[in-house]
Amino acid sequence: TQRTLVLLKPDAVRRGLIGEVVGRIERKANWTITALEMRSLDHETLEQHYGEHKGRPFYEPLVEFMSSGPVVALVVEGERVIEGVRQLAGPTDPIAAAPGSIRGDFGTIVRENLIHASDSEESAERELKLFFPGIS
Ligand code: GTP
Ligand code: MG
Repeated sequence: TQRTLVLLKPDAVRRGLIGEVVGRIERKANWTITALEMRSLDHETLEQHYGEHKGRPFYEPLVEFMSSGPVVALVVEGERVIEGVRQLAGPTDPIAAAPGSIRGDFGTIVRENLIHASDSEESAERELKLFFPGIS
């Protein structure tokens, strides 16, 4: 089975959508939340997390946004959970996201799209180490 890192971004927390989004993950059969923590992210952590985007025009505003309030970080385990949570989230741009997906139902602008989910097994391993160094 796979593990993935999910972040409920500061907009999801501010808008009172933690329960809604966590509920959608929990209701998925055969997935298990194995860690969950609310925390604020500093620029150093975000630079490591979003390093692939450094230099892009949206990078600085993204880091500002992601450090603008607490996030909720979760580890979710289950079969094909990496692809599955990305599917549940919908496309990056909420305008392109279908109703029924988290971003499609609640998203506003591309930067404030409520949720992060690892996009590959390699990203998941790297991000899990960054956010939950204690887990093996
Ligand atoms: P994450 O799960 O947060 O990594 O989203 P993603 O994998 O769907 O998108 P990606 O990794 O390409 O981009 C990371 C984040 O940067 C997105 O979730 C958006 O918040 C933001 N972002 C990406 N592309 C753009 C863009 O073209 N414009 C703006 N303003 N923000 C962007
Ligand atoms: Mg990404």
